[in-house]
Amino acid sequence: MFGKRSSFGSGGSPTHADASAAAKSQPRTSAMPSTPVPSARIAPPPPPPPPEPARRPDEYYVTKSMIFGALIEAIDLSQLSKLDSESAREEIRDIVNEIISLKNVVMSISEQEDLLDDICNDVLGFGPLEPLLARDDIADIMVNGASRTFIEVGGKIQLTNIRFRDNAQLMNICQRIVSQVGRRVDEASPICDARLIDGSRVNVIAPPLAIDGPTLTIRKFKKDKLTLDQLVKFGAISPEGGEILKIIGRVRCNVVISGGTGSGKTTLLNCLTNYIDADERIITCEDAAELQLQQPHVVRLETRPPSLEGTGAISMRDLVKNCLRMRPERIIVGEVRGPEAFDLLQAMNTGHDGSMGTLHANSPREALSRIESMITMGGFSLPARTIREMMVSSIDVIVQAARLRDGSRRITHITEVLGLEGDVITTQDLFVYDIVGEDPQGKLIGRHRSTGVGRPRFWERARYYNEEQRLAAALDASELVDRAAR
Ligand SMILES: Nc1ncnc2c1ncn2[C@@H]1O[C@H](COP(=O)(O)OP(=O)(O)OP(=O)(O)O)[C@@H](O)[C@H]1O
Ligand SMILES: [Mg+2]
Repeated sequence: MFGKRSSFGSGGSPTHADASAAAKSQPRTSAMPSTPVPSARIAPPPPPPPPEPARRPDEYYVTKSMIFGALIEAIDLSQLSKLDSESAREEIRDIVNEIISLKNVVMSISEQEDLLDDICNDVLGFGPLEPLLARDDIADIMVNGASRTFIEVGGKIQLTNIRFRDNAQLMNICQRIVSQVGRRVDEASPICDARLIDGSRVNVIAPPLAIDGPTLTIRKFKKDKLTLDQLVKFGAISPEGGEILKIIGRVRCNVVISGGTGSGKTTLLNCLTNYIDADERIITCEDAAELQLQQPHVVRLETRPPSLEGTGAISMRDLVKNCLRMRPERIIVGEVRGPEAFDLLQAMNTGHDGSMGTLHANSPREALSRIESMITMGGFSLPARTIREMMVSSIDVIVQAARLRDGSRRITHITEVLGLEGDVITTQDLFVYDIVGEDPQGKLIGRHRSTGVGRPRFWERARYYNEEQRLAAALDASELVDRAAR
C-alpha cells in the first residue's frame, strides 16, 4: 500500500496546513503567482454536422403506413428472420415494388428508395431511429413520444424531422431495444435501463409515467472513443494539464471525476484508464457498461434491476463489495450515486490505490459534500468528522468536467484533496479554467492555467513510480505557458 493511506518516509502524512504550506513553499523552480490573463487558447471548431434531410409531408407517412400494412400481410416474418440482412432487404424490396405498382402509387425512384430504406429499418432494425444511430457525430438521441425527437450535436440540442408512425410503433421499438439485453418495458414495468448491442446506453420510461408517450434516451456509443490527446486538441484541457492527468492515471492516484449531466465524466474516466499499466487487474462496476478499457486484464461487472416481482436486484453497492473479494488492483466505478460511495472509499483506503469513479457535482467542493451526503443517506451512522477523515485519506484528486453554455466541454479543475483543518476538508487546485470572454459567434473564450503549486501532494507518489521528472517537466511547462500568456 502506498500513498496518503500509508506514510511517506519518516513521520507519516503531515497535517493539512503543513502539507499545503509545504507544497507551496517547495517550488521546483519558482512558484508563480497566478492571475487570469486575457489571452486565450481557443478550441478548433468542430466539424460541421451533415445536412438534415427536408421535413417529410404527412402524405408520405400515410403512403408508407398503407404500404407497410400491405407488406406485413404479404410477408412471412418468421421466414424473413432466417435470412441475412441483405437477402431480407432484397425480399422486402421485391414485395414493396409489387405493392407500389398494384396500388398505383405515384413515386419517383428516389422517393421509392427512401421509402424502402424506411420500411427495411422498421422491419429489420429500430425504424426511424436507424439514420440517427448510424451517425457518429450525435452524442444523445432523445425521443419524447412519437412526433418529437431531439439530438445533441456538438454540445447543443436540436430538434430533428424524425417521426414515428405512432406511440405504439415507438413502444414496439423500445421493447425491441431492451429485449436484446433480456429486459422488458411495458405498463407493468415502465422504467428500463438497457444497452444497445454497440454499447450505447439506453433509458426508456413509458406511459403512464411518461405522460406524452414513450420517452427514450440514448447516450450514443462513440465508435472511436476520445483520447486524452484528442481532448487536448479540442481544448478541453491544456497540453500541460493533459500530461498531468496522464501522470495521475499512471501513478495510481485515487481519482473522483465530478461533473454535470453529459459533461464528459465517463469519457474522461475512460481516457484516464488508458494510462493504467497493462499488468494490473482492473474491475469495473457500471449500471450500463460504457467503459472500454484497453488493458488485457479487465473484469466488467454490471448492476441488475429487480425482476417484475421486485426481486433479484443487484445494486452498485453489491458489486463494489463483491469486487473486494476478487483480488482487484484497481476498482473503477462508472457512476457513484449512493451508499456504494462508502465501499469505494473503503477500497481506495485499503490497498486498491488508483481506483476511480465519477459522480454528479458542479465543483470539486460540491463533489466532496455529495460523497458525504451519499454516505450519510446510505444509513451509515458515522460522525461527520469520521466520514471526512475517510474521504481525506482516500481521495487524492478530483477532476471537474463541465459542459459550458456554448456547448463546449472543458476540464475546469484538477484539484487535490489535502487534509482536514478543523472540520473542513482542504483542497488545492492545480489547474483551473478561466473564462475570459466570448467571441461574436457566442463561443466562450478561456484558458487553462496552472495555479503555480510547486509540489503537488502526489509528488512522492510520482517519485515512487519514477514519473517525478515527467511531472516536474509538465509543471514547469505550464508555468512557462502562463508566464508567456501574461
Ligand atoms: N471534451 C469533449 N469534447 C467533445 N465531446 C466530448 C468531450 N467529452 C465528452 N464528449 C462527448 O460528450 C458526450 C457525453 O460524454 P460522457 O458520456 O462522457 O458524459 P457524462 O458526463 O458521463 O454523462 P452522464 O452524466 O449522462 O453519464 C459523449 O458523446 C462524448 O463523446
Ligand atoms: Mg457518464
